[in-house]
Order: sequence, then C-alpha cells, then structure tokens
Amino acid sequence: MEIKKITKIGSKNNVAFVVNTEKELDYAFFSKEEFAYIKNQLKEENKLIVINRLSKFVFVVFTDNGNDYKANQSARKSACKLVEKVNELKLKELTISSDLSSTSAFVEGLLLTNYQFLKYLTDKKENSLKSVGVVGKISSNELQEIINIATATNFAKDLVNEPVSFLNATQFAEEAKKLSKEAGFKVEVFGKSKIETLQMGGLLAVNKGSIDQPTFTILEWKPAKAKNKKPIILVGKGVVYDTGGLSLKPTPNSMDTMKCDMGGGAAVIGAFYAIAKNKLPYHVIGLIPATDNRPGGNAYAPGDVITMHNKKTVEVLNTDAEGRMILADALSYAQKYKPELVLDMATLTGAAAAAIGHYGVVAMGNADEKTMNKLKESGNNVYERIVEFPFWEEYNEQLKSTIADMTNLGNGLGGAITAGKFLEKFTDYPYIHLDIAGPAFIKKPVDYISQGGTGVGVRLFYDFIKNY
Ligand code: BES
Ligand code: ZN
Ligand code: ZN
Repeated sequence: MEIKKITKIGSKNNVAFVVNTEKELDYAFFSKEEFAYIKNQLKEENKLIVINRLSKFVFVVFTDNGNDYKANQSARKSACKLVEKVNELKLKELTISSDLSSTSAFVEGLLLTNYQFLKYLTDKKENSLKSVGVVGKISSNELQEIINIATATNFAKDLVNEPVSFLNATQFAEEAKKLSKEAGFKVEVFGKSKIETLQMGGLLAVNKGSIDQPTFTILEWKPAKAKNKKPIILVGKGVVYDTGGLSLKPTPNSMDTMKCDMGGGAAVIGAFYAIAKNKLPYHVIGLIPATDNRPGGNAYAPGDVITMHNKKTVEVLNTDAEGRMILADALSYAQKYKPELVLDMATLTGAAAAAIGHYGVVAMGNADEKTMNKLKESGNNVYERIVEFPFWEEYNEQLKSTIADMTNLGNGLGGAITAGKFLEKFTDYPYIHLDIAGPAFIKKPVDYISQGGTGVGVRLFYDFIKNY
C-alpha cells in the first residue's frame, strides 16, 4: 500500500475525518442533512459514520482523545473499523484527515489492519485499499517513522506465517539478510561448522533430529554517534518448527501452530528493520539461534547430558523444552560483547500462555527496576502490555540434577519462571526474559491484530530502544 502526506483534501477523494467530538468537524464540508445524520448516528453510539455521496464516500470516525496510551489504542482500533469498512466497500483510495495527537497511532492501526498473507492462496481476495493520503497533525518524519514500524511488524508476521516447508533455519537467516540490505543493518550468519567450532552444544543437540542445518544469525546496528558505549543485545528464539522432538507434541492440539516458534527471532529481525530504517542512535546487537526440533533418527533424547557453549552441562529431561537449550547458547555467546543489557524474546512456555492468554507479554529478569519500568511503559505505549513474574532464586531448586549441572525441566509449578531461571544461568549481565508464547500467534483476528502471526515484540522492542 502506498501512503503519503498530502496538504489538502482532493474534491474527488474518499475522505475520513478522524475526530473526538462533532465540534471538530468542518461544518462547511457537510450539508444540513448530513450533519443531522451524523448527530443522530452519534446518539446511537455509532462511532464510524458512513456517508455515500455517490461520487465518493465520506467517513466520520469518532475516537477517544488525549495524550496517553489509551487514546492511541483507541485510535488503532478506530482505524481498524474504518479499514474494514473501506475494504468491504471495495474502495481503492482514501484520504485521512486528523488533527488528533493520536494520528500516528491511527495510521499504524490502518497499516497493521490492512495486512494479509496471501502467498499460498489461488483466489487471493486482496484488500481493495491501495493508496492513502494523510492530512493534518503529523509531520512527514513522523509518518515515515510509523510506516517503517508497521512495515517491520508486517514483515515479522510474514516470517511467522511462513510454514517450515519454506522457512527452515537457513531460509530464516536468508530473510534476515534480505531485510538488512534494505534497511542498512549488518548481518552475519554462522552455519553448522562454525556453530560446532563454537561448541554451541544446546543448539547442536536440538538440531540432531533434523535433516536441515542450524543457523546462528548476528544482527548489528551501530550508528556513528551511538548514545550507549556498551551494546544492548536482543536475543530471539528461532525454532522454525517445534514438534517437541522425541517428547513429541500431540496434534491437532499443540503442534498445528508450531511454525510460530521462531516468533521471538522474527520480532528481533523486525525490530532491527525499524531501528535501522529510523536510524535510532543506539548500538544494538541481535542474536538468533535457529533450528527445527524433530524426532529424527539421531534426535537428542531424554536422559542425554549436553555440554553447552559455556561448558556447563544439562541433563535433558524433556526434548520439548528445546527453546531454552538454544537460547542458553546465545545468551552465553552474548557475554563476549560485555553488554549493558540483554533482552530475550521467545515463545518459550505453554505456562506463560496459560497464565495470561494472548493479552500480553510475560516478563521477568534481574535488570534494575528502572529498566523493567521503562519496558512496561513501552508495553503500554504499543499496547503489548507486560506483566512481570517473580524471579525468586528459590525456583532454581527445581532445576537441580544429580548427574549434571542442571536439568532442562522444572516440576511444572511456575513453568514459565523455571524456564527463565534456566536461561539466567547463562548470563553475566543485566537481563530480562520475555515470553510471548501467548500473543505470538492467534487463530482469529483481534481488532487490528491479524490472525496467524501477530508480529508481537517488534513495536515493543522499537519503542523500548527509542526511549532508552
Ligand atoms: N514452543 C513451546 C512453547 C509454546 C507453547 C509456544 C504454546 C507457543 C504456544 C516450547 O518449546 C515448549 O514446548 N515448552 C514446553 C516446556 C515444557 C516441556 C517444560 C511447554 O510449555 O509445555
Ligand atoms: Zn518445545
Ligand atoms: Zn518451542
């Protein structure tokens, strides 16, 4: 879709006025009858009013006002309703007129709603809306910034929506390379032999049941005058498909959507796209260990003891707890950068999804309170709200093994937290773990969030880095 800032409303264009109250409407634009109709509709609490002038459509969109994140969320949802209506009417172009401070969020809602994943459909039923002009309270820079953010989020959705039949670990790394060329960040991809040299035992163990090679992708955005001396590192789980391995998952209940298990990695790639496109003044490094998890002939098995990248040993008690195995290697690899802060994002545990559903992101960590609060603030800003779980040391008791330094499996109580505690053992820096098992993939659309891959985490990471 093409979207640009324009200076005035064309007389022949479909137009949507985005307002908080009817008083903000330009009386001269409407006939008496139209205005009476608008008032009437408002009384009936209709917040999306459609006027068919035959030569064009005029929409009046009522949305909450204010400078807080709730007003922005209201704008995203209003934009969603408008886009759905515009596509239903099969309109190709639209002018948005908005003087609200939530204009940027409105445009974001519009771009996110208009997303479709049609690659594998013969009958594509493409959305009609192709061209949008924006007049009002948004600068060209602000508009371009939000376009880049929404584009990045939609890229991440594509990556999650791609099945493993296309997106194996090698292809996943290839997609990161493609985006890096477009956005201007650096990408380096380690293949299996380099991963072996680095002795990333966790990643190699999970990969043993696969006939595809693992990859380890390093992304870097280093602007000339970065505000931070030591880098911020974003780590993303890149399990391109999770069968559970020998601890096989049942289908149809839990395997059907497991192409989403690289959702954390997709969020990292998307965030880098937005960060680089918008040239944020921070040095950021991304690490994505990637493989599928399968029960092949040589698959790692419950009972195996694995030596990890940092030489610690892990007794594998469930091969379906594979995310922590590959992330642990990435987290210990991160130590060499002496980072200021490391955040990881992963579709890590059913326990996190069971606790809060798709409504938010589970967070836990040992970084200072200020950092966690900033992250929560970002969670509100982009409406990917964060709930902090405890990270008490007592949870470590569940990970004790009699034959290795630790097991990869807790006793089931507080499963999202024991997973986080496992990961923490591979860190030596301020650390926050984000579990997106709930919101990464949804079967039915929720407002502007499309069905399938949601792109969760891209906007969260971006907002956090921007306000760092
Ligand atoms: N990828 C899954 C977690 C998941 C579940 C993601 C639902 C998205 C939706 C993860 O690898 C997994 O299988 N976790 C196990 C861990 C358990 C064996 C300790 C789980 O949550 O059941
Ligand atoms: Zn698993
Ligand atoms: Zn998994």
